[in-house]
Amino acid sequence: MLFSITHSNARVFHAPLPGFFFNIQQDNLLPYALIAGGSKGIGYSIAEALAKRNYNLILIARNEDSLVAAKNKLEAAYGVHVEILVKDLAFENAATEIAAWCTERKINLKMLCNVAGLGGEHDYLSYPLDSLRYMIRLNLESVMALTLTLLPLLEKNTPSYILNVASMAGFAPIPIKNLYAATKSAVVSFSYSLRYQLKEKNISVSCLCPGPVFTKPSIEKYTKEKLGNLGMKMAVPVKKVGEVAVKKTLRGKMIIVPGGLAKTLSGVVRFFPRRWVAWFYYRFTK
Ligand SMILES: NC(=O)c1ccc[n+]([C@@H]2O[C@H](COP(=O)([O-])OP(=O)(O)OC[C@H]3O[C@@H](n4cnc5c(N)ncnc54)[C@H](OP(=O)(O)O)[C@@H]3O)[C@@H](O)[C@H]2O)c1
Repeated sequence: MLFSITHSNARVFHAPLPGFFFNIQQDNLLPYALIAGGSKGIGYSIAEALAKRNYNLILIARNEDSLVAAKNKLEAAYGVHVEILVKDLAFENAATEIAAWCTERKINLKMLCNVAGLGGEHDYLSYPLDSLRYMIRLNLESVMALTLTLLPLLEKNTPSYILNVASMAGFAPIPIKNLYAATKSAVVSFSYSLRYQLKEKNISVSCLCPGPVFTKPSIEKYTKEKLGNLGMKMAVPVKKVGEVAVKKTLRGKMIIVPGGLAKTLSGVVRFFPRRWVAWFYYRFTK
């Protein structure tokens, strides 16, 4: 079931004119960005960077409390309008229901950000089959389905933007994180192809491929254990990731890797043959 909270239909903006005040229905004028996985972590930092640039927002996540907290924070700090939808994106009908919700409300959609994803630390060989399917549905199917179902709204509001969140793990096979790396590499490949398919429609496609971002303590612990000092140095603060992602998406950049060291290493990883990189990861991060 799709659940939404609408804060107000229109925010009234007072522009001083000589001798009187003039009302503008500001919500109808500002463009909307939809952030799938926008209540926390990288999704929230993308939401914040967009709010700063006067985008109204639609945030989607499963947990209502964190969505409400994100909405209150963003509305208070930036004066934009934030809609929230409580939804599990891995469910089969999620994309269709979200697109219907946006279409009914004639949302002026300028940007779609596919951020939600999971699984960075799981070993494929010991992962239960139902969890494996859930990860594939969330990391990959939801990205492709949301893009397809929301395309008509993005086409109405060109120039418009799609930002897919993959990972540096999408640049190479990583034996232990096999499944995660495979889903993220599919997101990278999908984004490259889609960029060419949508170029003539004036819709720009970008793909964010971050290295480690410490959005939760487990990521910091895993990075320290597996990648040591190098991994710790590659990490980029979450706020910076959102800011870089939005800035470069609006400039039409295709692959976005925040942080100098992560960017250099991702170049190296992409240069070497995949079997060498797979061997290296297996040997040193087992
Ligand atoms: N953090 C890193 O080091 C890192 C590095 C490279 C790439 N990435 C990628 O960046 C993305 C965000 O990572 P993050 O670390 O910021 O994650 P996070 O802090 O766990 O935030 C994930 C967001 O997505 C939502 N979400 C998760 N599962 C969902 C589902 N099934 N349906 C709807 N919403 C869902 C979460 O809210 P709810 O839990 O309430 O649903 C939350 O808003 C992921 O795709 C991840 O693979 C992360």
